[in-house]
Amino acid sequence: MPISLLVASPDERFRETIRESLVNIDGAKVVSEYPEVSSSLYIRVLQDLERHPDAALIVDLAGETEAALKALEKVSQAAPDLYVIASNYHADGETVIASVRGGCRDFLVQPVKRLEFREAMTRLERTPRRAAAGVSRLARVYTFLGANGGAGATTLAVNFAGVLAQRKKQTVLVDLDFTANDCAMQTGGTPQHNLQDIGDNLPRMDPALFEGLAIRDPLGFFLIGPPEEIEHRVHFTEPMFREFASFLVEKYEAVVIDAGRWIGDEIVLAALQSSSAIFLVTTQQFAAIRNAQRYIGALMRLGFTQDQIKIVVNGYQKKASTSLATLEQIRQTLNQPVFYGIPASPAALAAVNRGRPFVADRAAAGDLDRAFRAFVDKATGAKQAVAAKSA
Ligand SMILES: Nc1ncnc2c1ncn2[C@@H]1O[C@H](COP(=O)(O)OP(=O)(O)OP(=O)(O)O)[C@@H](O)[C@H]1O
Ligand SMILES: [Mg+2]
Repeated sequence: MPISLLVASPDERFRETIRESLVNIDGAKVVSEYPEVSSSLYIRVLQDLERHPDAALIVDLAGETEAALKALEKVSQAAPDLYVIASNYHADGETVIASVRGGCRDFLVQPVKRLEFREAMTRLERTPRRAAAGVSRLARVYTFLGANGGAGATTLAVNFAGVLAQRKKQTVLVDLDFTANDCAMQTGGTPQHNLQDIGDNLPRMDPALFEGLAIRDPLGFFLIGPPEEIEHRVHFTEPMFREFASFLVEKYEAVVIDAGRWIGDEIVLAALQSSSAIFLVTTQQFAAIRNAQRYIGALMRLGFTQDQIKIVVNGYQKKASTSLATLEQIRQTLNQPVFYGIPASPAALAAVNRGRPFVADRAAAGDLDRAFRAFVDKATGAKQAVAAKSA
């Protein structure tokens, strides 16, 4: 079986070396890269192991070794059968013992030499591999990122959470668009608490406390977001978000995030890094597609891979006028197929005006509702599950 690697390192050159060293090994490839070795690394690893159950992991300990070793330990606890290779500039007894205690099977000294890497890969190939992950017990994280203003990121996030809750999934919707608080607006909720309260209470966070701080939507999902007053600067940091995300994926079944548009924000970036899927929401306007292209470029530079990013065209019109791009033109421009087109419908705006998700009123939303549920099926893999059951 060809080698598949997951590579965790804040050092772009290290990740590049690994990629280049694999070129001469038949079929071998890096299937995912993590530009940070943090306490939430295990979330992304588990998510990727679902797609690549035979993958092995290389962890660069050279940056903040203490933190990296802790991250490593969490990964090994979460995926005890995963083959892990640690790497550092020195291979003294202490470092190697700490890595072995952290669950590593092998060690690579940096700078990585071609021959030593090759030998490590041979040892990996010789080790009988047990699929590292069964079905992950962690929640999936679905993040909606708008490629341009008003593309519909909030609408899709809110309704996505709505459908999952209707399907009896324990779902949490997190609004990270600090400029708007639109998820509360679109669901008609009046939040009493916000992410600052989450940050303040993290040390004693549990589901009862969280559910007391969040809004419970009538459809069944929980919602937490920024404060209502946009001038209010909240103390909610990126490490706080990571800790909160770890809590959510361990205690709930699905997490839906409205990431807004600003990927330069470190909380948004952390959210993207914790995501099982990133839905880049765009429209058929040429300017919007151009923006989507810039977003894809930026995400790639940040270490995301194309299969994590899913293009969703919202307000989709099949019989496009010449001022709108077709799905084929979008595919060609973005160099990847459109994951889904959600039709344009007055029901979307009517729902926003009513302050309820359109999926709450199936009859009124008609075609939009049907298309949207099919999108959720595809995004969650529900369709394949049904097909597999009936096969
Ligand atoms: N499929 C659709 N058909 C028609 N109108 C839609 C559709 N989806 C969303 N809209 C409308 O477009 C507007 C913008 O939607 P939304 O607020 O969800 O976008 P956004 O990407 O979150 O915007 P922002 O950049 O302000 O965060 C809303 O009035 C919404 O009702
Ligand atoms: Mg929005």
